Amino acid sequence: MTAPRSILIIGASRGLGLGLASEFAARGWAVTATVRSTAQQAPLQALPGVCAEQLEMTDADSLEQLAERLNGQQFDVIFVNAGVAGPAHHSTAQASAEEMGHLFLTNAVAPLRVAERLLPQLSPEHGLIVFMSSILGSIEAGAGLGMPLYGASKAALNHLAQCFVRNQDNPQLGVLLMHPGWVRTDMGGADAPLDIASSCKGMVEQVSAAIGQPGLRYLDYQGNPLPW
Ligand SMILES: NC(=O)c1ccc[n+]([C@@H]2O[C@H](COP(=O)([O-])OP(=O)(O)OC[C@H]3O[C@@H](n4cnc5c(N)ncnc54)[C@H](OP(=O)(O)O)[C@@H]3O)[C@@H](O)[C@H]2O)c1
Repeated sequence: MTAPRSILIIGASRGLGLGLASEFAARGWAVTATVRSTAQQAPLQALPGVCAEQLEMTDADSLEQLAERLNGQQFDVIFVNAGVAGPAHHSTAQASAEEMGHLFLTNAVAPLRVAERLLPQLSPEHGLIVFMSSILGSIEAGAGLGMPLYGASKAALNHLAQCFVRNQDNPQLGVLLMHPGWVRTDMGGADAPLDIASSCKGMVEQVSAAIGQPGLRYLDYQGNPLPW
């Protein structure tokens, strides 16, 4: 009998992260998933076999502590899901330095710091890192779809992920930039056409298929390649 696949999901208190934890666990994966504070662990603890961890992704000490707790563990997949929508005004004219710092730190810089710091916890033979991107981060396809500041932060994530891949000397490493569709979550809002379960089922299928495939791809939850 082979060991079940294992995944570390960053940002799983609610929305797509919690949906992913639920779907991977339902398919027999060993799931470790993070929330920002212990007070948020209950929904994860209600999922059979899911191990709840803690990470504030923008805090270097919090990342260091998580890395120390995970020392010795190895995952097939690390899925960095956490992200924020940015200021509700979505306006370059109104955006403050603080708002922009928070948006770009959370959506672009911190996910790469997480991947870099936790790389020793990824299987070197077939490990896969997934970053939750968005179609809004596509330079070619994202403009005009709304939320330009948020889209710019995801374009920055896509760029940093490309730089990350070029800096790795492991030819077996796989990296996915994932667009989940437009989904009814706190971020996606009530008008979004997709429910969490449908998006997460699709993403779990794409992740499962991508294990053992080296290189970088930008895909949606149905496996369609997206233009950079
Ligand atoms: N929904 C969509 O239509 C859609 C479309 C394209 C891409 N996405 C992307 O999908 C991902 C999940 O979105 P969602 O719709 O599920 O949003 P959501 O319901 O707002 O959930 C966001 C998640 O990210 C966590 N998070 C935010 N900042 C964090 C930080 N600094 N450290 C750790 N965790 C943090 C939140 O934790 P707390 O509960 O502690 O705040 C929460 O678990 C995001 O990256 C988003 O950009 C969503």
